[in-house]
Amino acid sequence: MIVLVGGEKGGSGKSCLAQNIAVYLRTEKNASVLMVDCDPQRTTSDWVQERNANDSLPSINCVQLYGKIRNELLSLREHYDYVVIDCGGQDNLALRSSMAVADHILIPLRPKRRDLKTVPHMEDILSTCKMVNPNMNAAFVITQCPSLPSLASRILEAKDVCRSFEVPVLDAVTYSRNMYDDSEEYGQSVMESEPEGKASTEIRSIIKELLSRREGETYESVQPQKIQAVS
Ligand SMILES: Nc1ncnc2c1ncn2[C@@H]1O[C@H](COP(=O)(O)OP(=O)(O)OP(=O)(O)O)[C@@H](O)[C@H]1O
Ligand SMILES: [Mg+2]
Repeated sequence: MIVLVGGEKGGSGKSCLAQNIAVYLRTEKNASVLMVDCDPQRTTSDWVQERNANDSLPSINCVQLYGKIRNELLSLREHYDYVVIDCGGQDNLALRSSMAVADHILIPLRPKRRDLKTVPHMEDILSTCKMVNPNMNAAFVITQCPSLPSLASRILEAKDVCRSFEVPVLDAVTYSRNMYDDSEEYGQSVMESEPEGKASTEIRSIIKELLSRREGETYESVQPQKIQAVS
């Protein structure tokens, strides 16, 4: 399966989500996982390098691919249970080529105006790619949510914006937590830094909800996260 974490907004948490999802699949589903880094900034490649230098962490393979990568992805898919792609913050050839073959597409957005402004364009790209990849399962996920109860409406509003463009948005979200940033050091995931922590629960909910949702079906096997204050 190909899982793409992409989008055109910088800093929305694409690399962070792709890395944590890859670790979840590798360590908690015991799957073989390859990461594909399409971002010239090499965020994920550097993270993998640090991770693989640490003998106590299960290693993850990573390759860098740019441009028209559709055929490479199709051939890599044959050799791994999951190919997890981190696609940089631009509408570029790698993003569109990945969308053309991905089984699951996750597009993170912060509940901020500038992130939400990208929704119409992303919807446009998704609907074009759907013509060549009709079975793709694409969804937005709201990330780095504010934990203040007075700002909870922003999360709901962000989800409403996504739905108004008829693109599914996951119930699961990530809240803004230092754990995400801290765990990146030394190539770790939040599940390795704090296995029972709230960030770990968020990552598990996101990937489980994404993988189990099918078009037209409501996801019911995991309780949606409540939008409320977090400590
Ligand atoms: N839920 C979160 N809470 C707090 N910090 C977060 C969260 N998610 C990601 N971050 C942090 O935000 C920063 C940007 O995240 P990340 O690098 O994953 O974004 P990106 O979308 O890949 O950016 P780029 O477009 O530059 O590739 C990182 O320092 C990351 O640790
Ligand atoms: Mg990135």
